[in-house]
Order: sequence, then structure tokens, then C-alpha cells
Amino acid sequence: MSTSRLVCAGCGWQPSGSTTYPFRCAHAGSDDGDHVLVHRLGAGAVLDRGDDDNPFVRCRESLYAWHAARARGMSDAAFVELVHRLDDRIAAVDGHGFRVTPYRGAAALGARLDIEVQVKDDTGNVAGSHKARHLMGILLYLAVAEGDEKQSLAPLAIASCGNAALAAAVLACAAERALQVFVPSDAEPAVLDRLQTLGATVVACPRAPGQRGDPCVHRFHEALRAGALPFCCQGNENGLAIDGGETLIYEMLGAGMPPLDDLVVQVGGGALASACMQAYARAHTSGLIEHVPRIHTVQTQGAAPLQRAWALLQQRCASSGASAEDALRHAAAHRSAFMWPWEQVPHSVAEGILDDETYDWLAVLRGVAATGGTSVVVDEDTLRQANQLALETTGIAVSHTGSAGLAGVMHLRRDGLIGAGRRVGVLFTGLKR
Ligand SMILES: Cc1ncc(COP(=O)(O)O)c(C=O)c1O
Repeated sequence: MSTSRLVCAGCGWQPSGSTTYPFRCAHAGSDDGDHVLVHRLGAGAVLDRGDDDNPFVRCRESLYAWHAARARGMSDAAFVELVHRLDDRIAAVDGHGFRVTPYRGAAALGARLDIEVQVKDDTGNVAGSHKARHLMGILLYLAVAEGDEKQSLAPLAIASCGNAALAAAVLACAAERALQVFVPSDAEPAVLDRLQTLGATVVACPRAPGQRGDPCVHRFHEALRAGALPFCCQGNENGLAIDGGETLIYEMLGAGMPPLDDLVVQVGGGALASACMQAYARAHTSGLIEHVPRIHTVQTQGAAPLQRAWALLQQRCASSGASAEDALRHAAAHRSAFMWPWEQVPHSVAEGILDDETYDWLAVLRGVAATGGTSVVVDEDTLRQANQLALETTGIAVSHTGSAGLAGVMHLRRDGLIGAGRRVGVLFTGLKR
């Protein structure tokens, strides 16, 4: 069995094996360091056993939940049984459970951009986006750590305006867990209705004039202080959120398609991109792939805190002659000089990637730097054109947020940063509602 441990990427702190809820670094918030727990996995782990069409069965050995189960004496077969049991309940709530989602070449789309394009289509995933992947990694861990305990379990909590909240509500309902959802006051009524139908407690969080940071995140933190558990898609709040997101990349790698030159990923809070970076790094270390593609990130003009941090890092390299690695090490200890809440109230047609802060920024920028990628901002016209092009050429009813990676591809093509003929991957992550 391969090794598995949680460690803070900022300060090296490790939770003890007997901690029931090892979600955050104990030193988070104590200084200006960037404290995020990451799951370090030995090179020997089989990332994708390919033995099932449920990604959480196939990729179980990549999950902290599986290692925690084995360390507690649960057999591999019992863990598989647990995944199937939970998945059946998810299917009863949402119509279907987790299945490997389509990943295909998109010739007509590629022809329009003079490149080869491969599309990972997660629009049909549980609750209509990739978000449930992040949460399933956490839910499996909770099932392992809490066992049959049903009495007096702490409620789960999330701050989200859409896809993540819906995914959390489906999974919490399936697991019969109480869930508090902190939403902006202008959240879509249809989303609120669905959350309520699923039994979540919905708390609207208006933005006070001049308030810094996301009011939903402030209320979410209050709930955590009152004892709720972070059931969210942000690695800084719950390091276990990243594991589940990685299944998206393992599915792509297991699909037998030719390897990508570039992957372009839309970024809000950054957990999706962080999961992509970590999955590729693990796949490379374990010998599953020879080369990691360049990974680029995309944000909107409405809110681009990651691109701002990337520009600041580059400035530091240029002015001090520091290597990217040194600059990143410096940034890890001086978070507030690189990442702070976006000052303007953010607006974009890609509303799912308007996070005030990119919470998983450091892991993402480490990956961008290590793979030779870049971080770009796209305008609203490009976001609209990309969405139209996606629909026209693939027939996939993807949301503007879900096709924002494609907008990034168009931007990078125009700038010449992705040349003609390259093989480029995009993630269609959310369904148009
Ligand atoms: C459909 C969709 N794609 C991508 C993202 C971005 O993911 P992250 O917030 O992890 O960066 C989101 C976030 O809400 C989303 O809803």
C-alpha cells in the first residue's frame, strides 16, 4: 500500500492520525503564511485502477479517504461497497450517481481555431457540474471517520452562489446530513428553490457597503466557529476537497486519447485548477505520463486576483532576479502581498468564477510556473463568443462559466501563446441552466 499523509504546503504542519477532522492547518490565520493542507501520496499509488465506471471506485487509491479507511482497518472491498452505497443514494436524489464523463476530440471546434481540441464534458455530472467531485472526496472521508455515528453529527457548511451549493445539497441530502448554505442576496431563485427542496438551510448574505471580502465567506467562517464542518470546494478551508477533483484528470488520462500540449482551466476559487495541477504532477511522478502539458488559467475582467498575483510574482522575478521557485517560496510566506480580495464588486457573464479571492492560488501558480503555462484575463465578448462556439460546434449546453476555459484558448490563440496545430484540452464544467 502506498504512503499517504496530509501536510501543510505552507509550514509543513501535519495533523495526527487520530484527528477526526483534518481539514485545515492548525496554523492557518496565525501569520502571513499561506496555510493549505495537501494530500501527499507515495509514487507507488495506483491512481486509476480502471476497474469500474464509478471514478471514486476506480481512483480510490488516490483518495485520502481510502487511505484513512485502510488505516482504520477497513478492507478495500468494504470501501468499494461504501462508495457504491453512497452513490446509489446520490442517484436516488439526483437521478444518477458518479460515472466517468465523456472526453472526446472536438474536430469542428478545433478547425475553427486551427488547433486540435479535446473536451472533457462534465456538464452531465452529479448536480450538473464538476463540483460534486470535490465534495465526494470529503463525504467519503466523513463516512470513514464518523462510521455509523448518526447522533449529534455537526452540520456541514458551504459558501457558494450556485454549482458548488447545488452539489453540496445533493450529497448532503444523500448522506442525510444537515447543510447550511451561505448565498449572495442576488442568488438565482431557481437555485434557491432546489437547495430548499434538497433540505438545505439557506442563508442570504447581503454585501454591506464598503465591506471587504465575500460576505458569504464571512458567514461561512462564523458557522465553522460555531462547530459546522467545511463541506466546500476550497482547499484552504478543507484540504480534502482537492482529491476528489483530481478524478476529472485521471478520467482524461485513462481515456486513451493522445496527450495534450496545453490545458486551459477557468479559475474562481482555484480548487479545480489546483486539482488539475496535483493530478498531473502525481500522474507524472507515478510514471503514468511522460510529459505534463502546459497548464494555463483563465479569469474574467470582473475579478482576476489570480492573474494579479501572477503578475506580481513575475515582477518580483524581473526586479530581483529571483527564480520562479524562489519567488513562490517568498509568496508562500507573504500571502497578503500577493493575494487579497478584489476591490470592485465583481460582475461577469461567467458568474461562477467571480470569487473575490483565489483561495487555492499558491498551488495553482506553482503548477502554472512548473508547467510553463500562463495566467490570462478574458473580456466579456470573448466569454460570449466562446460559449456560442462551444454550443455551435459540440452541441453541449455548457454555461458561460463552464466554457470560460475555451474563452482562454481563444485569447491565447490571438496572442500567439498557443500556436496553430497544438493539441489543447478544455473542461466544460457546468451545465447551462
Ligand atoms: C462550472 C464551474 N466551472 C469552474 C469553476 C471554477 O472552479 P474553482 O472555483 O474551483 O476555481 C466553477 C466555480 O464555481 C464552476 O461553477
